[in-house]
Amino acid sequence: MIDLNDYTLEEWNSLLKLASDIRLNQRAYINRCEGRIMATLFYEPSTRTQMSFQAAMLRLGGQIIGFDNPVNSSVSKGETLMDTIRIVSGYSDVIVMRHPLEGSVKAASLYSRCPIVNAGDGGHLHPTQTLTDIFTLYNIKQRLGGMNIGVCGDLKYGRTVHSLIKAMTRFPGNRFYLISTPELAVPDYIKQIITSSGADCIEASSIESCIGDLDVLYMTRIQRERFATPEAYEKQKGVFVLDREKLKKAKSDLAILHPLPRVDEIEFAVDSDSRALYFKQAEFGMFARMALILKIIEDDLLEKKDDDSMPGGVHCMNARCITQQETYLPQLAHIDASGRKCCLYCDEELPPKPGIRV
Ligand code: NCD
Repeated sequence: MIDLNDYTLEEWNSLLKLASDIRLNQRAYINRCEGRIMATLFYEPSTRTQMSFQAAMLRLGGQIIGFDNPVNSSVSKGETLMDTIRIVSGYSDVIVMRHPLEGSVKAASLYSRCPIVNAGDGGHLHPTQTLTDIFTLYNIKQRLGGMNIGVCGDLKYGRTVHSLIKAMTRFPGNRFYLISTPELAVPDYIKQIITSSGADCIEASSIESCIGDLDVLYMTRIQRERFATPEAYEKQKGVFVLDREKLKKAKSDLAILHPLPRVDEIEFAVDSDSRALYFKQAEFGMFARMALILKIIEDDLLEKKDDDSMPGGVHCMNARCITQQETYLPQLAHIDASGRKCCLYCDEELPPKPGIRV
């Protein structure tokens, strides 16, 4: 599972139903993955995603292997991603992988003999966070369409926001409020997805200007580790902070979500507000991931999707794309929602003529 949008709404529905059942009847599921192994390959730091995946597999009766610091694996000896995946996929029934470069999990999937799940690929996508987010909304709001959804903070590098917007454009009547500085606005390809879905989209430069309209406010941290320089980060940090004062203007049933970790974008005083759902959201994540693992292991529902890839013909010029590091990868492309030829791995538009590697 590289991108949640590769799956149908029926498949999402059955995942959400299963997650709900697991949440209410945990004991019925304790042996369902007995004898199965999940590998967690985390090339980048994680608390919730890694531990909730591991807890999910253990609660299903399965076992786990893996690393949470590539320095302790053969990566530090110079092994390619391709070789690591070829080996680990022979040891496990499912791989869960996080990596700092965009498109890395798609690249890994080309060499994996077992299903592989994207647990975050650089600033690109984070589909299982979105599964967590929609499972939370499905439980709290009992609907996934007809909502005014504010996303705030680092919309450029925040992979959770990209996956969430892609997912929520699939439900009718959602309107997006993109709250960021111009420097941290959503990438073009995400904008195109909103536009071509026909959803309304409003750009805002402050929380105060739109909080009264919102049904959901999705706060995010400024992704310090993805900035080119510390100075560039310093200019952006602390711009958006949700506090009790701003919440006075909000609806009484606003859902405040955050993928966490929080840095300074939500004041601690907000935590006790009944609209603050981010800790609950993290709990829902484990059940959503239990459902996902079970579907992958027991079901062929999430297997074999149509391959829409084509020869790319040129190098991707995105400096944060996996093809910059793993140079043996085939140049592959796909056509995006607005007809542009994009890198199959990271979704960046490909240059019309071969360029120089950056
Ligand atoms: C997010 C991530 O890793 O993208 N965290 C998470 O998985 N819950 C958000 C973040 O790091 O800001």
